[in-house]
Amino acid sequence: MTSITRQIIGSHLLAGAEITGEAIQLRPDQVLLQDTNGPMSFLQLEALGSPRLRVPRVVAYVDHNVQQVDCRNSDDHRYLETASARYGAIVSKAGNGICHQVHLETFSVPGEVLVGTDSHTVLCGAVGMLAFGAGSMEVAVAMGTGAYWLAMPRIVRIWLTGSLRPWVTAKDVVLELLRRFSVHGGRGKVFEFDGPGVAALTVPQRATIANMGAELGLTTTVFPSDAVTRAYFELLGREAEWRPVRAGADAAYDETIELDLSSIGVLVALPSSPDRVVPIEEAVGTPLDQVIVGSCTNGSWEDMYTVARIMRGKQVHPALSAVLFPGSRRVMEAMAREGLTADLLTAGIQIAGASCGACPGLSHVPASGTRSLRTFNRNFPGRSGTRDDAVYLCSPAVAAASAIAGAIADPRELGAPPDVVPPGSLRSSPAGLVHNAAPGAASGEPTAPAIRGPHMQPVPIGQAPEDELIVHVVLKVADNISTDHISPVGVEALLLRTNIPAIAAHSFKYLDPTFATRAKAHPNNAIVAGAHYGQGSSRETAASGLMVLGVRVILARSFARIHQANLVNWGIVPLQLEPPAGYDALEQGDELQITGLRGLLASGKPLTVVNLRTGAAIDVACALSPRERDIVLAGGVLAQARAAVAHAVQTAADS
Ligand code: F3S
Repeated sequence: MTSITRQIIGSHLLAGAEITGEAIQLRPDQVLLQDTNGPMSFLQLEALGSPRLRVPRVVAYVDHNVQQVDCRNSDDHRYLETASARYGAIVSKAGNGICHQVHLETFSVPGEVLVGTDSHTVLCGAVGMLAFGAGSMEVAVAMGTGAYWLAMPRIVRIWLTGSLRPWVTAKDVVLELLRRFSVHGGRGKVFEFDGPGVAALTVPQRATIANMGAELGLTTTVFPSDAVTRAYFELLGREAEWRPVRAGADAAYDETIELDLSSIGVLVALPSSPDRVVPIEEAVGTPLDQVIVGSCTNGSWEDMYTVARIMRGKQVHPALSAVLFPGSRRVMEAMAREGLTADLLTAGIQIAGASCGACPGLSHVPASGTRSLRTFNRNFPGRSGTRDDAVYLCSPAVAAASAIAGAIADPRELGAPPDVVPPGSLRSSPAGLVHNAAPGAASGEPTAPAIRGPHMQPVPIGQAPEDELIVHVVLKVADNISTDHISPVGVEALLLRTNIPAIAAHSFKYLDPTFATRAKAHPNNAIVAGAHYGQGSSRETAASGLMVLGVRVILARSFARIHQANLVNWGIVPLQLEPPAGYDALEQGDELQITGLRGLLASGKPLTVVNLRTGAAIDVACALSPRERDIVLAGGVLAQARAAVAHAVQTAADS
């Protein structure tokens, strides 16, 4: 028996060879959509002309914009819900919880493949699923064709030994991995967890670690499905859906990394990157204005229980505000039944509804120049909704200790940690879930049309690249630019996720407020970037928004996986600087001449770009699969689909 990753890939492989780096096509069992990227995915599915879903289970979640501060949010939700009704998808309504937490609790099945319009879809790897985050377009294609493409990952076994010391949590484990490997250490890899230390981790702890595989830049993360997983499914009332998934004793891996859980300390990530990890001792005493617990990383029963027990009989320090977002309605129901809610309220914690809440900058936006401590997964600049934010990341235990102290505090000062006691049950009422019937199976006829709001715009179509192109370098940026930099979130931007021309005006607004205006002044633009360009969220507007601003190529030292796929799907050419030192030969404002671009794309051979200011010749490569090269040559997925339809119509007319 081989690794878990190879077992699941092997049982879902539709095309391609299991050779590291080669394109493979998998058959997804499930698709997850959330409310900021999901409506666009359905719009793209409609634009592709797909009559029905070709994935057995599709679940659409309303979890980000649950406050519906503007009718454009409500219109997007109505579209998501009516499109789900049209196609036969399940809807998880506002208040039901964060997509990843609800999906883990309600729909996860060990051994299956899940694709979602959110980078943290990887969380379901906690129960032995192979779960991938992807852009809206890739998910639309998966829904319409029943197939999902990716590069065969390098499989790394993380061999866990030992057990966690008191007050050290799963969040510290994944922060330790980020400290060692950084936000781009996982590119092209799966981290498959194994070893005697795994049995000491509960499923919610595994979920915290799996979730932040997205921050490591991993293709995905996966744990075995074992006796611990089975006990979790029993607690959920889903024991019939549990299956064992484990690696063979003689399974081969590309690499093995050992991690002794007992060697890990209590950690925090400093502003403003999840890999700026230090021992808590280096941050203790940092005054705070805000503490927030929750998100898809730390929204479980165990997280809520830990905070409630630490806060019992204590008070939130008057210098700060403390807010808690449970991950799901199911968790909230258990909190109410087991008395946690009263302890938290008495301590002065604000309990918000089960949602993403403050994580994408939609509420509890910090005041300028203040410090916020959060149990979230990301602290990229501006993600909180404040341009000059200072967000620290930590475990729920550190958050609770700090909420009492008014400053970053080491929970080990509190004495013995609370023993986390599971609730009597994590069964949930079916409230908040709408199961829609599939449309007429044979004919594919829809039941009723999806309702579009007046602000929703047609999906723009990309432009096929010319062979000869002169592009203006409209922006040069450094390493580790995230999709939060490129297409910032926040209340204003999240009203516009189904209006790409409008959201494009927000591109790079914190990093470079005049970017969009400058880009509009040139017909053909380029961006020059450092390493790991496009890390973070799977947010597709970071590609589609730039496309409508005339960005044709991006020259970077390297690209993050999901974002590179998004660029291709929107017809933006990702060119890798070879050698990466070519970055230094380019400046903002340069004009670049690209000759033979289509030939490069068709052949995959290296190309030389000429800087018309200096005359310097800069080598670039385009490391894409044959399928991706075809897509970018066509100008993106929709342009390719449109051309295919036109060809079919012409062929029919000619015959
Ligand atoms: Fe939501 Fe934040 Fe997770 S926006 S899906 S809680 S990363």
